[in-house]
Amino acid sequence: MTQIAFSYQGIEIACLDQGGGTPLVLIHGFPFDYSMWQPQIAAFSKRFRVIAPDLRGFGKSSLLPSDVVEGVAMERYAADVVATLDYLQVDQPAIMCGFSMGGYVLWQLVLHHSERIKALVLCDTRAAADSAEASAARLDSANEVLHSGVAGLAEGMLPKLLAPQTLAGNTHVVQHVGAMMRTADPGAVAAALRGMACREDVRSRLPSINLPSLLLAGAADAISQPAEMREIAALLPRAEFKEIADAGHMTTLENPAAVNGALALFAESLG
Ligand code: MLT
Repeated sequence: MTQIAFSYQGIEIACLDQGGGTPLVLIHGFPFDYSMWQPQIAAFSKRFRVIAPDLRGFGKSSLLPSDVVEGVAMERYAADVVATLDYLQVDQPAIMCGFSMGGYVLWQLVLHHSERIKALVLCDTRAAADSAEASAARLDSANEVLHSGVAGLAEGMLPKLLAPQTLAGNTHVVQHVGAMMRTADPGAVAAALRGMACREDVRSRLPSINLPSLLLAGAADAISQPAEMREIAALLPRAEFKEIADAGHMTTLENPAAVNGALALFAESLG
């Protein structure tokens, strides 16, 4: 594995850069780090240049004290991804994959940096903004995490992230997902919650996104439900939707074979 880190605007961004060929950018969800893409990194770095950043504050990347106070907007994370591609001198449009919060970041990349994108893969994500109620709950949760740490949030989230059969029978995935959450920096978690609470509703923008797009959702995803992702696919001019069996929200880890198979076929279709 080639892990790199670079200094940028007062923070350090850590990133995996492995393999060669067409760039394949993997943007993780909340409150995780790039290791949630381990099965995809292993499979695709044989044929692609896989670039998987740790978003500001997560994994080995740092964040500014002001990020915690103000929250990190999805546009800010998107600008960090562009800065990472610039640092790595990636001048070719990339296949970009965004998982859940990484999908919210990917919408901002599409809207503001579309020249960097060859195709989109949206995993277990949403296009709508939070309801007023959900947004208020996120802001409360940010305060709680800063006050008491991430353990409560991690414990509450785990059963919502995984399909019942994963929770009952896949110790490795349960431990990996739990560990990513429990070791997340409270400041980064609060910053992301505050950023997600006021993110843009991009549904009206979908018909103008004329990029080949693959949408994936776990059949038992309770957070970004398959029906909602089907609706997003119907609004995107060039999208296909695939439901991932035997998975909840964490498709990349719960059913990597199905995710990798769908991604490989899609990448092949791009030529
Ligand atoms: C994620 O997996 O990134 C989160 O579930 C996204 C969210 O909380 O909306």
